[in-house]
Amino acid sequence: MRKRVLVLTGGGDCPGLNAVIRGIVKRAAQTEDWEVIGSIQSFDGVLREPTEIMTLDEKTVSGIHVQGGTILGTTTKGGPLAWPVQEKDGSWSFIDRSDEMIRKLQYMGVNAVINIGGDGSQRISQTLFEKGLNIIGVPKTIDNDLSATDYTFGFQTAVQIATEAVDRLTTTAASHNRVIILEVMGRDAGWIALNAAIAGGAEVCLIPEIPYDINKIMDVIKKRFKTGTGHVNIVISEGARPVDGQVLSHESEEVGNMNLKLGGIANKLLNDLKANGCEVDMRETVLGHLQRGGTPIAFDRILATQFGVKAMEMAMEGTYGEMVAYHHPDIVSVPFLEAISKYKVVRPNSSLVHTARGIGMCLGDE
Ligand code: F6P
Repeated sequence: MRKRVLVLTGGGDCPGLNAVIRGIVKRAAQTEDWEVIGSIQSFDGVLREPTEIMTLDEKTVSGIHVQGGTILGTTTKGGPLAWPVQEKDGSWSFIDRSDEMIRKLQYMGVNAVINIGGDGSQRISQTLFEKGLNIIGVPKTIDNDLSATDYTFGFQTAVQIATEAVDRLTTTAASHNRVIILEVMGRDAGWIALNAAIAGGAEVCLIPEIPYDINKIMDVIKKRFKTGTGHVNIVISEGARPVDGQVLSHESEEVGNMNLKLGGIANKLLNDLKANGCEVDMRETVLGHLQRGGTPIAFDRILATQFGVKAMEMAMEGTYGEMVAYHHPDIVSVPFLEAISKYKVVRPNSSLVHTARGIGMCLGDE
């Protein structure tokens, strides 16, 4: 009898998820020993009654590597460790359904699970692994903030989209003599902001790792508008904060979504600049989920395909409890515990920061 591997995508979507799924299926198809099935909307497909599972064969995955999103669907709510249940009074409580799910997977004849997801998803992977599930992780996040891998797929696509936004905002800012503030994603790490700021030639870049002093930004604006005209492009991560302030966030109202919602820092900065006496015209743009949608660029398709092939090969050789990772130029695997132990943030003394300062970019601190 053929062995069965179950694939799922969890957490926020990311360009390249479909390329991973295709890589897994194509590698599995090279042997007679394995069949691939997919769970709809992360583990929910297994937990729901009736079960929502789809067969993944070469026909199903043909050409999907160029598509954004995930053909399996995903969710940022609930999951096997905190399944939402509505009480009679309308309130919600959360129950652990992991043991029941592992039993169900055994009953379904699943020999291995490949969980494609970010840090939250890989924490779930570790718990399930400790409970005996044969599980493999594939890292995913546009934020590129997982320390165990040089890059996550989707990140370079997000940088490309953010860079195009800087390019477009530059021409309109210059035409109108304006300050334009672009807010990009990046909860704990400023990778997208800093890369797009360098690629697009922004004058100011504000990231979570370097709290900003508004006076430094005022200095840049004054200098650039010395003759009366000028323009300034500011790229700011959603997780950035002033030296004397907090990250702007609020709890999600979506049942089962434990993530804090970030956003609004561009608007705060604009108002703070006004309050500090900035009189030039200013506008803000929040790029939001445009950074997560659409087709992945070539780099991400390739990395995602490499991750998919590697994950399937780990299933074939029985390497579980580990996550696929990119250690340039190799695709390797690392234990979940190592993968989820710390975030990868922009080091203020890194080469990238040095480069930004080297071209005169203000990072809000000097
Ligand atoms: O973690 C990835 C990410 O894209 C963050 O940069 C962002 O804050 C968050 O997801 C947005 O999540 P949601 O899609 O739930 O709004």
